[in-house]
Amino acid sequence: MRRVYITTPLYYVNAEPHLGHTYTTVVADTLARFRRGRGHETLLVTGTDEHGDKVAQAAAAAGVSPQEHADRVSRLFRETWDDCGIRYDHFIRTSDDYHVRTVQEILGRVHAAGDIYFGSYGGLYCTGCERFYTEKELVDGKCPDHQVPPVYVDEENYFFRMSRYQQALIEDLERNPQRIVPERYRNEVLSMLRGEALGDLCISRPKSRLSWGIELPFDDRYVTYVWFDALINYVSALRRLVGGRFDEFWPEAEHLIGKDILKPHGVFWPTMLMAAGLPLYRQLHVHGYWTRGESKMSKSLGNVIRPLDMKERFGMDAFRYFLLREMAFGQDATFNEDAFVTRLNADLANNFGNLVSRTLAMQQRYFDGEVQPLGPLSDDDRDLVKAFETAIAEVPAFTDQLQFHRALESLWRAIDQANKYVVTTAPFKLAKEDATRPRAGAVLHHLLEGLYVSAVLLGPFLPETSVRLLGLLDLPAGSTLGGGWQWGGALVNGHRTQQPEILFPRIDTEKAG
Ligand code: MSP
Repeated sequence: MRRVYITTPLYYVNAEPHLGHTYTTVVADTLARFRRGRGHETLLVTGTDEHGDKVAQAAAAAGVSPQEHADRVSRLFRETWDDCGIRYDHFIRTSDDYHVRTVQEILGRVHAAGDIYFGSYGGLYCTGCERFYTEKELVDGKCPDHQVPPVYVDEENYFFRMSRYQQALIEDLERNPQRIVPERYRNEVLSMLRGEALGDLCISRPKSRLSWGIELPFDDRYVTYVWFDALINYVSALRRLVGGRFDEFWPEAEHLIGKDILKPHGVFWPTMLMAAGLPLYRQLHVHGYWTRGESKMSKSLGNVIRPLDMKERFGMDAFRYFLLREMAFGQDATFNEDAFVTRLNADLANNFGNLVSRTLAMQQRYFDGEVQPLGPLSDDDRDLVKAFETAIAEVPAFTDQLQFHRALESLWRAIDQANKYVVTTAPFKLAKEDATRPRAGAVLHHLLEGLYVSAVLLGPFLPETSVRLLGLLDLPAGSTLGGGWQWGGALVNGHRTQQPEILFPRIDTEKAG
């Protein structure tokens, strides 16, 4: 059985969960559900990143200790993901003791191997990113992400000999084109690596300046640099989860991140792994930014969308649908409430929701819910079956490539075809004459089978809707297209479907605005 280990970034506890965090987490959840559904032994880990200047400053501003602050915001992230129905296997906090021990153990190992040395360094530091910037990386003298000038920091610190692994990392990325995807991000990392000497990574902070962190095991005057600490969570969480089976899962690690943290994940992390003597992760999946207008959505820019507000107003599945359908994984996308409402009304309320309620309503009205024989196939039937068969082939293939928008597009092509099929076959007319009633029964059976296929394919994307729709079809949750299923076979003759329900109410554009 294939093993799968999926991770999200550990979110900083200086901000509350917003749409950006939710996107990565929903993608991770969708991918994990998809892989689980294929029978792979799948683990999903998320959590919070709690050390560093940024969090210490946020706690000071809130007038509480860093630990109290971290406890509060970490709980908020966890409860948010629970309320959103995210199915994670472990929630890690970088202040957890088992994580602290792992970081110290790895630091000790890398230090003993001679890859950590003491020295002094001055450079331009962005607290927002918690990292040093080279002049070349700045735009108009400012951090391109936070749009503020970095501050000059000069102090004695410990350094990780990252430069020693520069060539090995270039070779690894050349040999493994799938290591960082989509390709443009691999190219970005490669050009970073080929373009200049990598330099070494400052991995400590003197306690005199910052005490909120993991103490270095070889010098108690220092705490660990937050990135060197946080990246190691991927190892400590997995050890915690599977213990002695670590080696079975670790080479399958798939990290999901936004492009803002490409350098730490694409450069720091693999070189750290090489130094620690661990295999590299299997894949780094990088997505673009959600923007509002021209800017990236972020707490510091004050333009965030909160996931629980969206859930409350529109339902979690509708929100998931928008996130997964609107963004092409890897590229930026804009969040605009008009576009959101228009898409939900068109795709979910009209197209899909109407198909479900019409089909189930006719099935009740004309046949008391009882499924009728299929009869011989007409051309219309064949086109319908073909549309769903295409979706059955394409949806998993696109999902496997993290092309969620294309997977959903493909399924919606089949749903469109089903709506056309209702118009061309007109079961509401056929049902009125005795002679054509059997054909009306056959048409509805085809439509019900299409709904079944939709419910199954939607499972990873819209989990609540999938279960609800299967319930309306009176079929068990967790149904699949495996096990010898054939078109027409999910709903056997005589089976009874339920009364229709409205899955996605139309959103009143006046009220939404
Ligand atoms: N703590 C670090 C990550 C450490 S991982 C070992 C961090 N945290 S963060 O809270 O700033 O989260 C950044 C991540 O949140 C991004 O990489 C992305 O996954 C998600 N997003 C936050 N804002 C986003 C957008 N506006 N758009 C898309 N994703 C964004 O960095």
